[in-house]
Amino acid sequence: MGRRVNMDSLGLFVLLIPTFFHWTAASSADEISWSYSGIAGQSEWSEYFPDCGGTSQSPVDVITTQTKYDPSLVPVTPLGYSQHGNQPFSMHNNGHTVIVELPEWMGLGGLPWFFTAVQLHLHWGNGGPGVGGSEHTINGRSSDAELHVVHYNAELYPNMSAAMTQRDGLAVLGILIETGEETNPGFNNILNYMSRIRHADQRAFIPAFDVQSLLPKDLGLYYRYNGSLTTPPCYQSVIWTVFHERVLISKAQLLKMEMMLYSSKVQEVDRMLLQDNFRITQPLNHRIIFASFSAESGRELSSGEVTAIVIGVMCGCVGVAVIIRFIVKTIRSKETEKSQEIKTDLALTITSKAERKEELSPSPQTEP
Ligand SMILES: *[C@@H]1O[C@H](CO)[C@@H](O)[C@H](O)[C@H]1NC(C)=O
Ligand SMILES: *[C@@H]1O[C@H](CO)[C@@H](O)[C@H](O)[C@H]1NC(C)=O
Repeated sequence: MGRRVNMDSLGLFVLLIPTFFHWTAASSADEISWSYSGIAGQSEWSEYFPDCGGTSQSPVDVITTQTKYDPSLVPVTPLGYSQHGNQPFSMHNNGHTVIVELPEWMGLGGLPWFFTAVQLHLHWGNGGPGVGGSEHTINGRSSDAELHVVHYNAELYPNMSAAMTQRDGLAVLGILIETGEETNPGFNNILNYMSRIRHADQRAFIPAFDVQSLLPKDLGLYYRYNGSLTTPPCYQSVIWTVFHERVLISKAQLLKMEMMLYSSKVQEVDRMLLQDNFRITQPLNHRIIFASFSAESGRELSSGEVTAIVIGVMCGCVGVAVIIRFIVKTIRSKETEKSQEIKTDLALTITSKAERKEELSPSPQTEP
């Protein structure tokens, strides 16, 4: 397992914050603590992690009308996601999120290189459904939470730590999560065990599960752009795939996600709930977001639009029927007129012939 560094060594940084009112002067970035808000909050990240101030940062707001359709974007293919085996997965709380480490036989196809799975983690808000929590937004709208599945480029780099600083080094799947009526059994594979890792740095082994059960059904509709890790050190090494289709979890599941974990360690007196662990969207700076689908094909139709289309089609059909009926009627009446004319002509000819005959034949009455 030494060759894999989990996302959190992306930030296995010591949490020293609350007692000090300034950044701890540290000899290396690894010793610097960070948080989502407050003194060491996201607006300050770039001071100690220069990449966080870069021009290709994540997450971003996807403005769908400004995306560019790229027909060469094929569906991404999770490899081995469902072959989870019998070895338990390792799950831990790093003070910033819950991380599930993935076995190295899981990977991702459908990109220019083969990528090996490393870990998955979640971002969420606070306050239940409808108040945000996702990192990526679509047309300015947040989802309730977001799942990230992290992979490194195994064709170009020997391991995660080598790949994560390099362009094209990582591929992350972004799955937007919304709240619905039903329990999502896939997410219970994580949520049901979070009580074992309530405090930062706690770790637990959980039964292996089908990771594909966390993904949306349609893996062919997505947005693709070049971006970064969404946590310090914010390396700009990520090929992002944000799916168009959202997955649904129940309200109870969302609340569990939001209320279960602490960002503080077990020995800390002041417990701090781990909430609102999402970064705000970053400027695109001339980057293009590509879409694997054209605006028309991928657009969901609202019930209003569906009604409008149905009414439109019906009116259209009725219109066409009326026009056809009119044409047929006109032709028919023309035909009737014609045939009536012919009949009249015939009748006239017959009568005139008869009259002529009468004229020509000698009248017997005149001869006595
Ligand atoms: C990752 O690969 C680099 C380059 O080969 C190597 O120096 C480093 O020790 C490796 N790291 C781990 C954690 O295996
Ligand atoms: C990402 O950047 C590379 C250049 O390093 C470029 O070839 C590629 O097309 C970019 N991908 C996207 C989705 O913008």
